[in-house]
Amino acid sequence: MCGIFGYCNFLKDKDRKEILEILCNGLARQEYRGYDSAGLGIDGDNPGEIVFFKEVGKVAGLRKRIAESNINTSKTFSSQVSIAHTRWATHGPPSTVNCHPIRSDPSNEFIIVHNGIVTNAAALRQVLQNRGYKFESETDTEAVAILTKYVYDSQPGKRITFPSLVKTVLKELEGSFAFVFKSIHYPNEIVTARRGSPLLIGVKTEKKLKVDFVDVEISGPDDGKAVDGFVPTAPNSRLAPPAPKISRRQSRNYMSEDGMPQPIEFFVASDASAIVEHTKRVLYLEDDDIAHISDGQLHIHRLRRNESGQAETPATRSIETLEIEIAAIMKGKFDHFMQKEIYEQPESVVNTMRGRVIFDDYRITLGGLRSYLPIIRRGRRIVFCACGTSYHSALATQAMFEELTEIPVSVELASDFLDRKTPIFRDDVCVFVSQSGETADTILALRYCLERGALCVGIVNTVGSTISRETHCGIHINAGPEVGVASTKAYTSQYVALVLMALQLSEDRISFTPRRRAIIDGLRELPVQIKKVLELDSTLREFANTLLANQRSLLLMGRGYQHATCLEGALKIKEIAYMHSEGILAGELKHGPLALIDENMPVIIVMTQDSLYPKVQSAFAQITARKAQPIVICNEGDDGIKKGVKTIRLPKTVDVLQGLLNIIPLQLLSYHLAVKNGFDVDCPRNLAKSVTTE
Ligand code: F6R
Repeated sequence: MCGIFGYCNFLKDKDRKEILEILCNGLARQEYRGYDSAGLGIDGDNPGEIVFFKEVGKVAGLRKRIAESNINTSKTFSSQVSIAHTRWATHGPPSTVNCHPIRSDPSNEFIIVHNGIVTNAAALRQVLQNRGYKFESETDTEAVAILTKYVYDSQPGKRITFPSLVKTVLKELEGSFAFVFKSIHYPNEIVTARRGSPLLIGVKTEKKLKVDFVDVEISGPDDGKAVDGFVPTAPNSRLAPPAPKISRRQSRNYMSEDGMPQPIEFFVASDASAIVEHTKRVLYLEDDDIAHISDGQLHIHRLRRNESGQAETPATRSIETLEIEIAAIMKGKFDHFMQKEIYEQPESVVNTMRGRVIFDDYRITLGGLRSYLPIIRRGRRIVFCACGTSYHSALATQAMFEELTEIPVSVELASDFLDRKTPIFRDDVCVFVSQSGETADTILALRYCLERGALCVGIVNTVGSTISRETHCGIHINAGPEVGVASTKAYTSQYVALVLMALQLSEDRISFTPRRRAIIDGLRELPVQIKKVLELDSTLREFANTLLANQRSLLLMGRGYQHATCLEGALKIKEIAYMHSEGILAGELKHGPLALIDENMPVIIVMTQDSLYPKVQSAFAQITARKAQPIVICNEGDDGIKKGVKTIRLPKTVDVLQGLLNIIPLQLLSYHLAVKNGFDVDCPRNLAKSVTTE
């Protein structure tokens, strides 16, 4: 998905070389989100001049283009603002002209970087074209840039403030987005706004900030209105002539404790990983926030007011401290982030449990759920809702939830859940599982359930994300930043977090005590067992380089808890090795998939020892009778498997946790298949880390 980065320095000398470096690094840190072109816009040598660099392909190419240009890199700016973007093509192919920043006109009066999709862009484009405006790109963003110029040009005396101008523009937009605006009419100012797409602002000062929050400013009643009836698709368009009413207050937090303005830098990004190397002090914007940075001050306005004239969200935005370390977003000794993240799992599962499991007392404490436990226990059903890997983690734990809570549980793909308009009631408990916390389908499903009065629980990795903020309660899985597009450590941490949730919900049921204890004992062993599984890495590389090297397809079979393992393993193989792979419920074999089996069809069958073992043995017999030569994922010491069969032997754990170990060889296998074929492991083609559009 696209990535935004903006940089502002105030009373702090920076030469152009440093500024370009900061911008390119900001983009590089967000590369993992997926993109196909990169660009930036900085101040030129003369007032009112903006210089662009744009490149199709990687940020490395953008750096090269800058290095090869003859721009004067030693020019120093004591204050400036600049914006940059990685674009994941939606409207129009990757090309220099479609690459952001997008300009309003050849004099660059307004330039914009944009994440998300403006759904009424076509109508806006039509109206603006009818009024004589010329478009040069195929992007939806250009309609916004030109609309901004149109609104500005329509102002008598052009006395509108930058945030009021942007507010007027945003009121005409439909869809979900995050924007940063820069303009030659407002030198050294930027305005940034979000609706449905994440944005945060890092603040860096030498002295301590006076206060740790920024007030949300409620503007005057006629602020942000312009010309009536401009856009036909927005019948309630509130464009009307602007009031030049400017209620400027001095922002309290940019001053040092002695009350004096101080040198300050601001970093605007869609992702904390682009900010953490500069500062850990960040402020997350809420939907419909409009942040204005000017003269070293940060002001936050709201797009709309509620009927009583009050902002409907809290009246301040606090400046929080990021908990991630810079090392967490570096590859270290590994070749790829995905490899690093697979190898981090012995620690990441511990981080999910840290402070939440007291092994000696068999006690679980999930602080984020504590006060909601009685409501959850009284719920008439639990509905899990997620996409992709996160969906698989819910599927992997569904049976355990049903067993331990005795509440009916359903697991829904968020997109399908919305398509079906599933009935949801006040006594439902809806659990939203998401690594990024920004997946559009999952967010829409969450809002659908909130509207219907259900209790909404988030199982999220990214602190401060939309899902973590909009749910009533939840668990942060604390897996640490996941950079590889293919989710690995987030899967195992989501799985562990869900196990903890089920255990916590069942703590009042004495009859479950032995079962709970067995699971908690299993959790204690988990890190050591994961390390043992990782020792199989070279065997898996060997399978990838020999047995599976030239195959076009791979079937993964299992049942019960291992059905989710097969689906997740197949997803990993598809997404990074670009190989057709299918997870099959072994109980369904005879109902169709068996027809695929012959001596040429590669199969992996998951046959670890749980209560369904005999049934999986029967599936094994059915496929080998048809000459398949499956690789068997089984437990160490299982003598039931005939000599000569290729096996991947794993430590045994309690049935509900076995999937946590069984998935790791499949993660490694997909990784080695991708490496062998020379694919971009961390950024597979056509995919994005954070899917912020439907
Ligand atoms: C696959 C993968 C995706 C995500 C899915 C949901 O490896 O990463 O399938 O799991 O896009 O993303 P989150 O968990 O961020 O909601």
